[in-house]
Amino acid sequence: MDIVLSGIRPTGNLHLGNYFGAMRNFIRMQEENRCYFFIADFHSLTTHPTPADLHGSTRQVLTEYLAAGIDPEKSVIYLQSDVPEIPELYLLLNMNAYVGELERTTSFKEKIRRQPDNINAGLLTYPVLMAADIIIHKAHKVPVGKDQEQHLEMTRRFARRFNTMYGVDYFPEPDAYNFGKKLIKIPGLDGTGKMGKSEGNGIFLADSPEVIRKKVMKAVTDSGPAEPNQPHSEPVKNLFTIMNVVSDPSTIQYFKDKYSSCEIRYGELKKQLGEDIVKFTDPIRNRINEILADKKYMAKVVKLGAEKARESASQTIREVREIIGYREF
Ligand code: TRP
Repeated sequence: MDIVLSGIRPTGNLHLGNYFGAMRNFIRMQEENRCYFFIADFHSLTTHPTPADLHGSTRQVLTEYLAAGIDPEKSVIYLQSDVPEIPELYLLLNMNAYVGELERTTSFKEKIRRQPDNINAGLLTYPVLMAADIIIHKAHKVPVGKDQEQHLEMTRRFARRFNTMYGVDYFPEPDAYNFGKKLIKIPGLDGTGKMGKSEGNGIFLADSPEVIRKKVMKAVTDSGPAEPNQPHSEPVKNLFTIMNVVSDPSTIQYFKDKYSSCEIRYGELKKQLGEDIVKFTDPIRNRINEILADKKYMAKVVKLGAEKARESASQTIREVREIIGYREF
């Protein structure tokens, strides 16, 4: 069985774009692979969160992943900070990671531009920690988006370098794993681009039905089709793209026909879309609230995940120490 691993930074609530773009794939993957999913709560320290924020957002993200269908019985779901073997491997890998290559990383250069007052060493070595996350479980497949490709390339290089240095064939080189063309991009509600966290653009899984309806009613459209069978403008196409994942085929066809015959009323379309999103997210939202109210369950999940993750991680560290030359006296 292949080993799949992905890390999630605990930043803010998850939106429909995260759900259809990533999470739904994770949920499918756990049927056919040995999956490790973790909250990257060491990585998040690069932006200096307060203790309350660190804890709160970790809890929220974990809750939302569980609510969406990541199953702690099928997958290993854990917190990065619960596995001390990860920082140990990170330290060891740091000795063979070169400052030059780290400084050339795109994400680092971008961070320098965006947060010039906080260029900490953790940012520089971010890819080393990410490599440690991945190879600690000898993962083969890493479901990540385009923005993480370079980090993954560096992971492969660090793994290869370790193997070469010690003349072993120990760490596999992991590949990016996504569903290629099947990857769905969910657009935002503000007319252009993909769904994100900005105001007026995204719908969060934890949003109440009232908030969802309001957000959808405010979505950007256009002045309406001027002639029959006119192609959709971007804002309208975007609403149909969201409809495609939450509404019945007959509903979608109804509005497409109305558009083609120039009889569409965007108010009616948005009202329907709002209801269909509410219906779709309802069970997830209920689950989120259930889990948030059940501290015992959460504690159990975290403990089980830590145990399973450490079982695999400690074996790797034992073997790595032996390979490097830390031997028993
Ligand atoms: N860097 C990833 C991101 O920003 C999060 C991450 C940390 C990760 N460690 C990982 C992803 C290991 C995949 C594998 O989204």
